[in-house]
Amino acid sequence: MVQRYIMAIDEGTTSTRAIIFDKKGNKITDAQREFRQYFPNPGWVEHDANEIWNAVLSTIANCFIESGIKPDQIAGIGITNQRETTVIWDKKTGLPIYHAIVWQSRQTEALAQKLQQAGLSEEIHQKTGLLIDPYFSATKIRWILDHVEGAQQRAEKGELLFGTINTWLLWKLTDGEVFATDYTNASRTMLFNINNLQWDDDILQKLNIPKQMLPEVKPNSAIYGYTRPYHFYGSAVPIAGMAGDQQSALFGQMAFEPGMVKNTYGTGAFVVMNTGQEIKLSENNLLTTIAYGINDQIYYALEGSIYVAGSALQWLRDSLKLIASAPESYQAALDSTNNDEVYLVPAFTGLGAPYWDAEARGAIFGLTRGTTRNDLIKATLQAIAYQSRDVLDTMQADTGTTIPLLKVDGGAANNDYLLQFQADISNTPVQRANDLETTALGAAFLAGLAVGYWKDIAEIKEDYTEGKVFKPQMAEQRRQQLYAGWQQAVAATRSYKP
Ligand code: G3P
Repeated sequence: MVQRYIMAIDEGTTSTRAIIFDKKGNKITDAQREFRQYFPNPGWVEHDANEIWNAVLSTIANCFIESGIKPDQIAGIGITNQRETTVIWDKKTGLPIYHAIVWQSRQTEALAQKLQQAGLSEEIHQKTGLLIDPYFSATKIRWILDHVEGAQQRAEKGELLFGTINTWLLWKLTDGEVFATDYTNASRTMLFNINNLQWDDDILQKLNIPKQMLPEVKPNSAIYGYTRPYHFYGSAVPIAGMAGDQQSALFGQMAFEPGMVKNTYGTGAFVVMNTGQEIKLSENNLLTTIAYGINDQIYYALEGSIYVAGSALQWLRDSLKLIASAPESYQAALDSTNNDEVYLVPAFTGLGAPYWDAEARGAIFGLTRGTTRNDLIKATLQAIAYQSRDVLDTMQADTGTTIPLLKVDGGAANNDYLLQFQADISNTPVQRANDLETTALGAAFLAGLAVGYWKDIAEIKEDYTEGKVFKPQMAEQRRQQLYAGWQQAVAATRSYKP
């Protein structure tokens, strides 16, 4: 019998990957391609959606070339993606009318402030679970419609389409036949009502966004459509799973029970707690979002989004040239001999949860004449863990529970120093996934469930093995002292306005 596989397309902020998994959830092959980041103005981040599309096609091709697997051996495709990033394109030509505005971009700051001043915060929180911020798609759509000549009229005439990257890729793979998104990505637009699972007419009206430019919203595990054979090397394969990358990682971490929490250390870090089938609105500035919708059941989540995590290591590598590669940071942190008195607050694009301070900018505290490169590198790793603790504390306050275990994944989860410090500073055991591809795996599971490649979640769980656990070892007094220093550093950073 011919062996069958599932392919995941994991389209992230700085690179895109295609990965082929087998029935046991083992990675058979993968391919990765970086694409260009555009910084047209300070604080702005944009992508070229066509460049992303080309990169996706080439990673798919590379997977087939490297593995010898044939396209018709793929039983289903799952797409997972950087969320919120906004593309608007012409329905007829398929050409984007502007660069994709990336989730990190702050160019819609003024628009977000206007919405806050108009008193919309409470309504938006109740309906979408989100806080008004340039992070989400809504103000990015408004910005493109305002800045591209004639765009508003064309959108009103039904000539333009909006999508996050998953929708864009689905539309391209099906050659314009399927225009849809999934619950998780819709829940990050600030236009989707997570109570009734509909685009919200009031919010759309207030932002003057024509509804006809929005995609149909579907469950995360479902057949969305089939690849046009000429885009998939001769085969029509079902695209059967779709989820925003953080929700996909939650699924890939098998965090199916309420109370389970994962943290993905990618470009940013995203702490997500499964809160079950009821909506839990945060009282402390976390986001409420859809975790996944499967078999007519919707699961919700609380999320703390940290804008800068792995990208701080990239900054050490590319801008400061303190390290040649991110893994070098591990040894440097071990070699640092100071007493952890240097704090680095990487607020390069403001601060996300729980501060939501778009104007904050990064700072370093506690420098002495004796401060070394190693100390700065260690402080950067610690900052990732401190920011995660900020969110974990907030989650515990919101839910009135103690988080028993933090499941982690993403590139920086390879760093044992980071994970031990995370366990120590948050006084929580940290478990590293055995396979750090959890984001892609989640999308593969969603697709495989929809096409019957896996019968049910129980079957998926059969091959799951628990990863290494890092236990807290730090004395309580030391933990308190270090964390108090971090809080002071954040407060000082926020009070400085250039
Ligand atoms: O919300 C943004 C997030 O989805 C981006 O994820 O993995 O590209 O940093 P990542």
